[in-house]
Amino acid sequence: EVIVVRDPAEAGAFVAAHIAEQVRSRPEFTLGVATGSTPLPVYEALRAEADRGTDFTRMSAFALDEYVGLPAGHPESYRAVVDREVTEPLGLDPARVHVPDGSAEGIRTAGERYEAALQEHGGVDLQLLGIGRTGHLGFNEPGSSFGSLTRVKTLTERTRIDNARFFASLDDVPVHCVTQGLGTILRARHLVLLAFGESKAEALAAAVEGPVSASMPGSAIQLHPRVTVVVDEGAASQLR
Ligand code: F6R
Repeated sequence: EVIVVRDPAEAGAFVAAHIAEQVRSRPEFTLGVATGSTPLPVYEALRAEADRGTDFTRMSAFALDEYVGLPAGHPESYRAVVDREVTEPLGLDPARVHVPDGSAEGIRTAGERYEAALQEHGGVDLQLLGIGRTGHLGFNEPGSSFGSLTRVKTLTERTRIDNARFFASLDDVPVHCVTQGLGTILRARHLVLLAFGESKAEALAAAVEGPVSASMPGSAIQLHPRVTVVVDEGAASQLR
């Protein structure tokens, strides 16, 4: 299902209302969280839902990915972003918030441990996704296998340039990440893919309508039985 909304704020309100409704009927709901700019309006709207009385304190969260090698507590580490945008404002129990371990010491077993945690927990109910201009989901860049699980990957130069806006310089953007695989993402029970702006239009159209191919990781969503795509006019502009 593709839903075209006026702007990111409307998308955020729409998706957050759905999540809040689920959480009210099942407080132990598990949200798959993405980082980057795209999901921020959802988190803002979730905070508004919390202000209006939805209790998120028993919700669990699993992040899609993490940079490798940033010092603990670095403000742009995805652990810090998730804590700042989701865990703290919604009052989640930090013990229920999971982010892959991108520390140098943990890296050898980070993927395996994350998959085990996901499995033990019982998986993700709703996975929020953004899409990169390369078509990546999580940090599964073109060529990633549709069966892949959480593992260390190398970021493409284009993705590093796109993410340099969060860092002082391009040199400060990590080269590696730990990311859920496409196979991991496809196990979530409901995928919600968000995209805003014309810069995402080409990747979005290829993901939604193009051939299913490892060279367009976003096209993996076509293999999932329950996907909601929420986009603004700009991101929808290349859909047929
Ligand atoms: C973030 C992630 C990435 C982003 C994508 C889009 O956890 O895994 O796939 O969703 O790079 O980034 P933004 O939203 O910043 O355009």
